[in-house]
Amino acid sequence: MAKNSAPPPGTGDIFPEEIGSWLAIENGAREIFRRYGYGEIRTPVFEYTEVFQRGLGDETEVVKKEMYTFEDRGGRSLTLRPEGTAGVMRALSGTEALNGVETRVFYMGSMFRGERPSAGRRREFHQIGVENAGRVSPALDAESITLLARLLDHVGASGYQILLNTRGVKEDRKEAEQALREHFSSVIDSMCEDCRERLNRNVWRILDCKQPQCQCHIESAPDAASLFGQASKDYFKEVCDILSDLSIPFRVEPRLVRGLDYYVHTVFELTHPGLGGQSAIAGGGRYELAVPGLNRPIVGVGFAAGVERLLMAREYNKVPSIPPERPKVYLVSLGKSALRYNIRLADLLRSKGVHTMLEAEEKSMKSQMRSADRLKAENVLILGENELAAGSCVLKNMADGSQKNIPLDKVPAEFCKEDVSLSGKPPA
Ligand code: HAM
Repeated sequence: MAKNSAPPPGTGDIFPEEIGSWLAIENGAREIFRRYGYGEIRTPVFEYTEVFQRGLGDETEVVKKEMYTFEDRGGRSLTLRPEGTAGVMRALSGTEALNGVETRVFYMGSMFRGERPSAGRRREFHQIGVENAGRVSPALDAESITLLARLLDHVGASGYQILLNTRGVKEDRKEAEQALREHFSSVIDSMCEDCRERLNRNVWRILDCKQPQCQCHIESAPDAASLFGQASKDYFKEVCDILSDLSIPFRVEPRLVRGLDYYVHTVFELTHPGLGGQSAIAGGGRYELAVPGLNRPIVGVGFAAGVERLLMAREYNKVPSIPPERPKVYLVSLGKSALRYNIRLADLLRSKGVHTMLEAEEKSMKSQMRSADRLKAENVLILGENELAAGSCVLKNMADGSQKNIPLDKVPAEFCKEDVSLSGKPPA
């Protein structure tokens, strides 16, 4: 690709040849979400910055380092959404979801994070997500995980592993935090700079570190969940038991904390071998999310899957890509009157749902046949001035090369079930 036609790093164009697989994923997701009673919500691509600062937490990597923030003309700070949950919950906080009415929504769209681009890591990427707001119940957490597994299976991304953990509730965390801090304090000098900074600011985030020199210390860290209160342990056990009842395989991963501060109780991440370095294809959990202007958080459980990563998983799983639809017929016109006739014929066929293409200007037969080939047209209809005068044309089947002469008024019947024909005389 020529350099000047490349979009900014970490973004990408999606061409018609690729869109089939995107649509297969999006339509597949719509079908699965329908079965679970989720309705689509569309929220703005940008929000007031405090929606994310308060919602995700000031101390998260996303808020501290990755947000695309700018000012509107009035000097108000706005941010391109780095994820979907905070904006969706901002919207739902004005509904009965805030008062405990179960509300199920899904969304699809672009998210923006100023990360270093690599395979599967983009600055503009696409998420498909759901949020089940208003209620707190282990059964809903288990259902959200089940829904995600069913979604991935349905869109050709099976072969994932489900990692599960509990973050307990805020009151549970003090003792565990202290145990983690004690453990890491003794080895912090051999850990990375980020972890050193995290030790006092947010020790949980150390568990999330991917630096090689930190891994052995993370492996040997105490299991924080074992220090949580009984109610949180029971809640998590119930989630695990329901998943087992449903025969959904999962692995409890005590070091899974997830990078956003709003999570409580259940957190989960799905990894897939087709993603290389970026192994998380989807992630989610239960949350209590702070919304600016509200004195209590809104609760929910949900997840988001990255569409670019779903595509990588499909490719790894050798799911065939979906080529653009081929034209049913390409109309070749030889001479101006034939072209004028074919313009009307194309309009008629298209109005009846037939994928019809034609050359818009007078061109040679050879050039038009080349276009028909390039578009992989199933049939070619050849209309010259003589044929037009005689009221017939040649129809060529491109798969087997067979040709036949047919009367012009029988052309629509070749492609449409309905009995239709062009009204009026062909132009002289
Ligand atoms: P997240 O784990 O930050 O969670 O993102 C979810 C998914 O988005 C990831 O598993 C990955 O597939 C995709 N993703 C994230 N960052 C990138 C990137 N830079 N490039 C490509 N794909 C990416 C959330 O966003 C939460 N809002 C999920 C959630 C919903 N939790 C509760 N409800």
